[in-house]
Amino acid sequence: MSTHAELILKSIGPEHTESIGRAVGERLSAGCVLALVGTLGAGKTMFSRGVAAGNRIPADCTVSSPTFALVNEYPGTLKLFHLDAYRLSGGLELDALGFDEMCESGGAVMIEWADRVAECIPEDHIRVAFEVLAEDSRTLRFAATGERSKQLVENLRRKAKTLLEST
Ligand SMILES: Nc1ncnc2c1ncn2[C@@H]1O[C@H](COP(=O)(O)OP(=O)(O)O)[C@@H](O)[C@H]1O
Ligand SMILES: [Mg+2]
Repeated sequence: MSTHAELILKSIGPEHTESIGRAVGERLSAGCVLALVGTLGAGKTMFSRGVAAGNRIPADCTVSSPTFALVNEYPGTLKLFHLDAYRLSGGLELDALGFDEMCESGGAVMIEWADRVAECIPEDHIRVAFEVLAEDSRTLRFAATGERSKQLVENLRRKAKTLLEST
């Protein structure tokens, strides 16, 4: 059986992207890695906010872009790491942040600008590519590789009818 899965969703506004993220956050399991790619302003951080909410982040905890902090850690159902590779020189710097340990901590990981450190992303991961269609609309393209990631995307697909699946 194939260990790949794809799902394309169209978002019609920031809150919509956040709710897609929430649906992903509700489905996380230990070791999940979300590799987020797309230009500045495409919606990666907005989506991450939803993921943290779906993973039941405490109300007093905020999700912001880790561009300067490089890595944020949020409590919730699973420990959730939020990284941004935008300012990293490459994989060595990501290693130095303890990326492998985060992936194997029993928590989940989401990383913005993941293409910059593609060589560090574990084999089993979900790539989420954000594409700007118009001012308020985006395409979110999920591509899962590996059994754990595929299960999440297949599970998300069942919910996708209410999340506007793009045809
Ligand atoms: N459908 C949409 N999904 C996500 N963001 C959107 C959407 N439409 C407009 N936006 C706007 O685009 C910007 C996305 O910012 P952000 O999530 O920080 O992007 P990134 O992290 O990819 O740089 C926000 O200002 C948001 O209000
Ligand atoms: Mg961002």
